[in-house]
Amino acid sequence: MRKVAIILAVILRFAGCSESLPLYESELRPVLIQGAMKVETDILISALAESHDYTIGHWRYVAGKIGGYPVVVSVTRCGVMNASASTALAIETFKPCAVINQGTAGGHDPALHIRDIVIASDCFNASAWKALKSAKGKGVDYRNINLIDVNFYDEYENGEEITFLPSDGKLKASALAVKDKYTAGKIIEGRMASYDTWENRVDNILFFHEKFGSSCEEMETFPAAKVCRIYGVPFLGVRIISNSAPNGEEYIPETGHECQAFVIEIVKDYVKEMNK
Ligand code: 5AD
Repeated sequence: MRKVAIILAVILRFAGCSESLPLYESELRPVLIQGAMKVETDILISALAESHDYTIGHWRYVAGKIGGYPVVVSVTRCGVMNASASTALAIETFKPCAVINQGTAGGHDPALHIRDIVIASDCFNASAWKALKSAKGKGVDYRNINLIDVNFYDEYENGEEITFLPSDGKLKASALAVKDKYTAGKIIEGRMASYDTWENRVDNILFFHEKFGSSCEEMETFPAAKVCRIYGVPFLGVRIISNSAPNGEEYIPETGHECQAFVIEIVKDYVKEMNK
């Protein structure tokens, strides 16, 4: 235990933090809302009453209240590494009762267009796969892969292989309950593919969609969901389609604003249900 504390202190030192994490005190455990970029967090941050800014390492967290309930907005920055590290630090520091990871995504399902929103039924690590063997000079067929759970042999999983991580039922129910408040596009339940990749090759996108059932791709949902699973914190992924290679629709980052506004409605419903 002492060894772990020393290692954590050394990591935090190198990350530019003091040895102790900032003190956050709240009688009620907050809802943590994550977004990678400014266009995915600015509306949420301005919706916070009594806000207080924290920096841990190079990650920003703004604590405050929405509808009188404690909420922490986390600016995770982009990608799998940032999502994993900032989620672990957020859980240790703010002890959230629930985590919502939200933002923009690229469409995999051709039925989805810009401004449609995907509520994650589940998510997977789209860069975790084992390729079938192929000999020198035979070329590479991108389709010859099987998804794997890279944590399969981790002790904490007890040999349970989980490729697709499901969202929490209550959080998902709140998202579906406020569905009608969103009018800029349709809302579907779907599967999120996460990796440090921006795929633009339509054949590969359609392969993932058809073989693994992905609705969209982005870079943070799975790592955040995995850290939440380790800590036993309820998790939900919400993504707005900001670009769709299968439909030739170019990236509109500002769609992140509409996603944030919808997520505020989800949080209000979730808190209302929690207080019943
Ligand atoms: N592929 C991957 N990530 C995407 N994002 C939006 N569209 C895509 C896409 N087509 C999100 C990621 C990351 C940032 C680049 O935007 O989650 O945070």
